[in-house]
Amino acid sequence: MTSIKHIGLLTSGGDSPGMNACIRAVVRSAIGSGLKVSGVNRGYQGLIEGDFQELNARSVSNIIQRGGTILKSARSQEFLTLAGRERAYKNLSNHEIDGLVVIGGDGTFRGAEQFRKEFGIRSVGVPGTIDNDLSGTEYTLGFDTAVNTAVDAIDRIRDTAASHDRLFFVEVMGRHAGHIALHAGICSGAEAILMPETPTDIPALVNHLAIGRANGKTSNIVIVCEGDEAGGAFSIAQQVRSLAPEYDTKVTVLGHVQRGGAPSAFDRLLGTRFGVAAVEGLLDSRTDVMVGLIHGKIIYSSYSDCINEQHGPDPELLRISGITSI
Ligand code: F6P
Repeated sequence: MTSIKHIGLLTSGGDSPGMNACIRAVVRSAIGSGLKVSGVNRGYQGLIEGDFQELNARSVSNIIQRGGTILKSARSQEFLTLAGRERAYKNLSNHEIDGLVVIGGDGTFRGAEQFRKEFGIRSVGVPGTIDNDLSGTEYTLGFDTAVNTAVDAIDRIRDTAASHDRLFFVEVMGRHAGHIALHAGICSGAEAILMPETPTDIPALVNHLAIGRANGKTSNIVIVCEGDEAGGAFSIAQQVRSLAPEYDTKVTVLGHVQRGGAPSAFDRLLGTRFGVAAVEGLLDSRTDVMVGLIHGKIIYSSYSDCINEQHGPDPELLRISGITSI
């Protein structure tokens, strides 16, 4: 296998806080190892359109603290087609780019693996998604910041919920995974946490709230993961209202506010570690692997393991959330 000389770097899928810290680390570690780096704008779509910019150590100054991604992101439909991937390969060949660092989620890694199988372009992935839904790492980039943002918002809702003796349903992000809901729910003292990995039973929820009320609770916060099988916060609030009209219920959907904002110190450090590890992985001739953090150490796992194995909620967190929400 020839050694890598020129890296293409892209962010794909939903952006997440800490991506810029990672971009900075990739660029600086690659340059420090004598490699050239081209940033690809708008993920795989930019690869198809040849939308590249050469990056140097100064191009990534003053970005470690910024949310979003300076390379922009997209969910490219065209890269799902062979014709799109052929165009992407031609652009890479023309620029003599021989390896990729791809920052994103499961769709990003599926695309990278397919591309390597067809055209031989090696890649190392960085898990960048607020959902924390990938195996091969305990934390994805942006999850910590998203949880902190959600907790900050829920604390504010708690103030007004307590003042008016209300029942709030707060919807947090998580397309198929309840990690944000579980962590933010525990940290904000929520009365209940509804998530796709655990069955949602509306009469049982109403009963739980009634017990709390009998024990002196005057206000309640129920966290609803957007991917919950019983519906989003508006639908669940409606279902609860029909069984328990005595509550003064309100709904807040936190939405994309959880995706933006300055990354936490944890995500800046994680992005920096992941970025350096991604370049080192390519230099070690690795491909089709994602960097991850397990027990505080950087590891590499195959894309297929990271995508196909379930990263379910920590049973210990589920247990203690039940104990502390009475
Ligand atoms: O995957 C991250 C995420 O924020 C999910 O939690 C959410 O369901 C989805 O992206 C929203 O995607 P979009 O910004 O494309 O609507």
